[in-house]
Amino acid sequence: MAIQWFPGHMNKARKDLAERVKDIDVVIEMLDARLPASSANPMIARMTRGKPALKILNKQDLADPAITQVWLDYYCAKPGTRAIALDAGERAPVTKLVSACRALAPNRGGLEKPLRVLICGIPNVGKSTLINSLTGRRIAKTGNEPGITKGQQRILLADDFELVDTPGMLWPKIEVEEGGYNLAASGAVGRNALDEEEVVLELLRYLMKHYTSLLQERYNVGDIEGWQDFEVLEQIGRRRGAMLGGGRVNIQKAAEIVLTDFRAGSIGPITLERPDEWKAWEKAARER
Ligand code: G4P
Repeated sequence: MAIQWFPGHMNKARKDLAERVKDIDVVIEMLDARLPASSANPMIARMTRGKPALKILNKQDLADPAITQVWLDYYCAKPGTRAIALDAGERAPVTKLVSACRALAPNRGGLEKPLRVLICGIPNVGKSTLINSLTGRRIAKTGNEPGITKGQQRILLADDFELVDTPGMLWPKIEVEEGGYNLAASGAVGRNALDEEEVVLELLRYLMKHYTSLLQERYNVGDIEGWQDFEVLEQIGRRRGAMLGGGRVNIQKAAEIVLTDFRAGSIGPITLERPDEWKAWEKAARER
């Protein structure tokens, strides 16, 4: 799969992380609740092995709540790991986040041994938005273009609780193909990284399998039992008036409609992967 990342940016990010992680007590990794495994950074896992970990499943408002719970249970079953779900509208993210971190490092805290927490995550996962809401200020740049380098900063959330921010980090290689498609569907990878139509067909296949009724409600496509993905895309185009001359469907426009709707949560709360599926995809990728 030809996804182009930003190697220069990544090498710097790797060095920064190696430097910072030494005196860190808890590592928070922000994940996209719609694609927790795909939005995880294997490099972070490798470089922070052995450190207590808090997984934040962000954008929970866009994700399927039942599957978010499955992922929370999955992470919490791992030793030294906790997980919480958040969204940008959360009223008291500080309380949730601080208490989860304190529980992970009970021997730290107090002015003599302040708790040092590193927060990281791939671009577009919502890190700046969360930091803004934690601090009540707009101090981190928010934006939708993946790969923008952002400065590091230290934020005091309590007298004895320091949050260390890192720039958005990516990984050198996407090993699981489905993960690449899910990242592209979420908007986390640049627009030209993958063919948009392919991304949408992959997305539609998943939705046809797990969220048929949401698709039917949103696009009034009727009974799509036994349909092929491209037939569903064409039908969506027809229903939305995305037509070219001669009665042909404007496939590109139809694909854009589906992607925009998915990213905004307009199709409904959707999660694109479950732990057992992810394991099977990983296994298939290893055997490929
Ligand atoms: P980053 O620092 O990790 O790169 O991500 P950032 O905070 O810039 O967030 C990326 C996009 O995701 C932003 O949308 C932001 O509003 C949105 N976002 C962040 N957290 C949540 C959440 O919990 N729920 C939902 N639904 N969206 C979230 P944007 O379109 O780029 O910007 P804007 O239109 O909101 O300004």
